[in-house]
Amino acid sequence: MGNAEKLRQLINSKKSRITVIGLGYVGLPIALAFIKKGFFVYGLDNNTRRIDNLKKGVSYITDIPDKDISVSLKTGRFIPTSKEDILKFSDVVIICVPTPLRKTKLPDVSYIVDATRHVAGYLHPGQLVILESTTYPGTTRDVMQPILERKKLKEGRDFFLAFSPERIDPGNKKYTLENIPKVVGGVSEVSGTLTGLLYSKIIRQIHKVSTVEAAEVVKLLENTFRIVNLGLINEFAILCDKLKINVWEVVEAAKTKPFGFMPFYPGPGIGGHCIPVDPLYLSWKAKKIGFKTRMIDLASRINLFRPYYTAQKAQKVLRAECINISRAKVLILGVTYKKDVKDLRESPALEIINILQEKKAIVDYYDPYIPYLKINSINLKSIKLNAANLKKYNLVILVTDHSGFNYKFISEHASMVLDTRNAFGSRRIRQSSIISL
Ligand SMILES: NC(=O)c1ccc[n+]([C@@H]2O[C@H](COP(=O)([O-])OP(=O)(O)OC[C@H]3O[C@@H](n4cnc5c(N)ncnc54)[C@H](O)[C@@H]3O)[C@@H](O)[C@H]2O)c1
Repeated sequence: MGNAEKLRQLINSKKSRITVIGLGYVGLPIALAFIKKGFFVYGLDNNTRRIDNLKKGVSYITDIPDKDISVSLKTGRFIPTSKEDILKFSDVVIICVPTPLRKTKLPDVSYIVDATRHVAGYLHPGQLVILESTTYPGTTRDVMQPILERKKLKEGRDFFLAFSPERIDPGNKKYTLENIPKVVGGVSEVSGTLTGLLYSKIIRQIHKVSTVEAAEVVKLLENTFRIVNLGLINEFAILCDKLKINVWEVVEAAKTKPFGFMPFYPGPGIGGHCIPVDPLYLSWKAKKIGFKTRMIDLASRINLFRPYYTAQKAQKVLRAECINISRAKVLILGVTYKKDVKDLRESPALEIINILQEKKAIVDYYDPYIPYLKINSINLKSIKLNAANLKKYNLVILVTDHSGFNYKFISEHASMVLDTRNAFGSRRIRQSSIISL
């Protein structure tokens, strides 16, 4: 029996042992989903604190309650570990490590290279290796395959290599891992097929594309679509502001068109590990082949300007009350990059606080998800949100519209609010002290 057929049988009988490398926002839900369906999973992460937490049944991801971890541990089929030698017992390895940008804004695939080297050290015939991390087209074939083939094992015959982009949307209760269709693409045909088979055990719909590069670029198209549309609406919002038209009302009205329009909403800037980062992987790759991605570059610039625009607007609002920014006390409400998640990565709130601090404003924040924050070597602690505290500030800037905020209470006790998310307007809380961005 060939290696592919053996693996196919192992997957179908749920006897294939899976290692998920990188137990973050992407890796941990995947690991738990396989355990739930009866598979044995090693969770490999070099962050020993995360592993210690998991062993104690403690989750560090908002969408995953502690109970899900303890239930998984109780099955005896979940082994969180930092010991990479478990790779030798694994039939399937799923890599979910970070893909950030370097300081120079160039792609940093060093985590993928590192993880691949570890896998290569234990690679054996019949293993399937899948990359989930978002990256530029060519990473799986040109970067990973040569590292894995150093031991003279051949892709498509001895071992299998594929890419499958993760589409999880943290905080989204409607679309979860199980009901978001999964795109897969193999370096070889058989690798794509085996990957589709594996994921069909936890995900309802699998969409196989013909090449690994197509699978890689699918994710980048999805995120480019978002960055470009966000750039468009963020520019449109500035235009509406200058025309004294409420952009939120305009989007709500445009949304009633049942075809050819999809609503995007302006905000204080874009954040997270994906939207501000991934399209730059694509523009880097494009530059390498002599092509300029003008749409991405322009949208990135417009979106990057939003925190500055928010700070400018704050300054203007304060000036109208004869308060100079350098003497102002400002409270930032919500600092995570999106509502109801405990994730600060690339959050526009950080940039806004930084800009206001540089203008010498006294800046505090409140966020139930983030107790402490360090910006410009200044340590900040989330304040208590009560009437007396709210009254202390000249301006409250609503940056992240967490569902748990009591908007009515805030509107009753804050002197002035700059609402960057239409959080008050959408709740029909309208008064002259609430200004829309
Ligand atoms: N967060 C999202 O919403 C999301 C959605 C879709 C795709 N993605 C992509 O998925 C990938 C992972 O993102 P994430 O948000 O889960 O990142 P994360 O930072 O939450 O988790 C990554 C984990 O990998 C671990 N790690 C790094 N190098 C390792 C190594 N060599 N060995 C073992 N563990 C290692 C880290 O300790 C960390 O726990 C990225 O490419 C990201 O772009 C993220």
